[in-house]
Amino acid sequence: MSTSTTLNDIIPGSPAIQESTKVDDVTAMLDSIEGTVGTTRVENPKMEMREVDVFYADKQAIYDVDLDVARNEVIAMIGPSGCGKSTFLRCLNRMNDTIPICRVTGSITLDGVDINTREQDPVLLRARVGMVFQKPNPFAKSIFDNVAYGPRIHGLAANRAELDEIVISSLKRAGLYDEVKSRLDAPGTSLSGGQQQRLCIARTIAVNPEVILMDEPCSALDPIATARIEELIDELRENYAIAIVTHSMQQAARVSQRTAYFHLGKLVEVGKTNDIFTNPQHDLTENYITGRFG
Ligand SMILES: Nc1ncnc2c1ncn2[C@@H]1O[C@H](COP(=O)(O)OP(=O)(O)OP(=O)(O)O)[C@@H](O)[C@H]1O
Ligand SMILES: [Mg+2]
Repeated sequence: MSTSTTLNDIIPGSPAIQESTKVDDVTAMLDSIEGTVGTTRVENPKMEMREVDVFYADKQAIYDVDLDVARNEVIAMIGPSGCGKSTFLRCLNRMNDTIPICRVTGSITLDGVDINTREQDPVLLRARVGMVFQKPNPFAKSIFDNVAYGPRIHGLAANRAELDEIVISSLKRAGLYDEVKSRLDAPGTSLSGGQQQRLCIARTIAVNPEVILMDEPCSALDPIATARIEELIDELRENYAIAIVTHSMQQAARVSQRTAYFHLGKLVEVGKTNDIFTNPQHDLTENYITGRFG
């Protein structure tokens, strides 16, 4: 898919890109927001976030966000750099626990159960809510061992044959198997960037997660590798709930069914992707998707 594809090619009727002009009164516009525009809840949600605030020491990064993650759906998080997309995504599998100064308040549930209790083991949670990062990060291990890592830790295979089966099926589902089947013992780092990212996706799905979080998974990839990952995201949606952060509105338009627009730590607007891109309700959302924020 060419990166020169415009939003309008994907969703006809989306507003034309405007000249980049700085909006001076963003703060005033933000202060005027009372809650989020659009419907933040879904029926039978996979995850529910209520009144979530996040602080780094004294500095607040997320303000009072309510949002559901639906089953078998891709939700895209978009917004200007520094608006809190990664911080928000990391709340969903307690990756913010790894940042000592970070504090999360409010309620976050998975299948109705609070994930932030002391009884909840974060390692087990992260097997259920897996994460794919911006930069592919294969372990310094073979292709096979990268994918086998999680199943081994969590004791998912009773014997070598079962482990082989998990590794091969995960590589197949990640669309990588045919490219690597003759060299499963080669280091994961010997693969191309796009292959490494698919390896990381195979590693994530090998432990049978229920939710997959992706933080700009294609930003280091060329358009062909990006298109492959996007196809994969669409296929994975059959079995998983997926939340993806992206700087590409074209990507959000192509892969997601709902889109959430963040600005300076607030969830400004959320809705069906088509509606957000063709008929944004909030001025800030419209400014962003028409390119007015430089
Ligand atoms: N580890 C950290 N320590 C302190 N402040 C942080 C940390 N991580 C993020 N922040 C602050 O939290 C705010 C939100 O950052 P975050 O990384 O979530 O934004 P983002 O929307 O993902 O941005 P980008 O699009 O550039 O990735 C920013 O003001 C940032 O400086
Ligand atoms: Mg980020």
